[in-house]
Amino acid sequence: MALLIDGKRISAEIKDELKEEVAQLKEQGITGALAVIQVGNDPASSVYVRNKKRACEYIGIDSLSYELPEETSQDELLALIDKLNKEEHVKGILVQLPLPEGIDEDAVIRAISPKKDVDGFHPENVGALMIGQKGYISCTPAGIIQLLKRSDIDIEGKHCVIVGRSNIVGKPMAILMLRENATVTVTHSKTRNLKEICKEADILIVAIGKKEFIDASYVKDGAVVIDVGIHRDENNKLSGDVKFDEVEQLCSAITPVPGGVGPMTIAMLMNNCVEAMRHE
Ligand code: GUN
Repeated sequence: MALLIDGKRISAEIKDELKEEVAQLKEQGITGALAVIQVGNDPASSVYVRNKKRACEYIGIDSLSYELPEETSQDELLALIDKLNKEEHVKGILVQLPLPEGIDEDAVIRAISPKKDVDGFHPENVGALMIGQKGYISCTPAGIIQLLKRSDIDIEGKHCVIVGRSNIVGKPMAILMLRENATVTVTHSKTRNLKEICKEADILIVAIGKKEFIDASYVKDGAVVIDVGIHRDENNKLSGDVKFDEVEQLCSAITPVPGGVGPMTIAMLMNNCVEAMRHE
């Protein structure tokens, strides 16, 4: 039987550790807030934003909520970010993506002070990750490293195949796995022989955004499979990028959807917020 990598339990463990640290920081007079900005009312974004605010409440940091209308201009959004950059109590700023059409996401990400960029999307933080310097790390890939470590899965020397090359998951994941001394292959929609390459993976990380794309024929016996995908069907049932029931039969460990990678993203966001408070 494959080990079920329990993201719910591990994320709860991390949030409890952070809650304790926040209480200690408070005793030293250090407090802080995460500012969460949502433009428009995309329902999926609303769920994520609500969960982020809830997590702040749980670990004991303030959350400031900015729900801006769909027709907000880029200048208005940049002005709000500028204001929050200057507010001392605000330690982290998060702009929920995607943004409505007409707003340049890159310009918005660049406008956030790198010191408050708890998403780890600012080019300065991305660059720091690339060369092994300190900075905020994108939450989903950082969460996957924690899932592996806290499940006692060795990374060093393993062949890690990543399916997907996004700025938020695939690319930073590759750098983090390199940092852990894995041998890394990054694949994507134009990769030839995708199946053969995936079949060579000791650790297969799938962030391709296609429902149940990876079936058992892509997976080596005994591999570790991490599923970043999340898809909701018409009955509200969630599934991932991996055909769980099939792949579970032959892998040694696997993340479920829901309850695998998803909760880790928010736990690592909280970790970045506490990191921002520590710097004070
Ligand atoms: N949209 C989807 N994932 C994320 C994330 O990690 N951060 C932000 N800000 N927006 C997202």
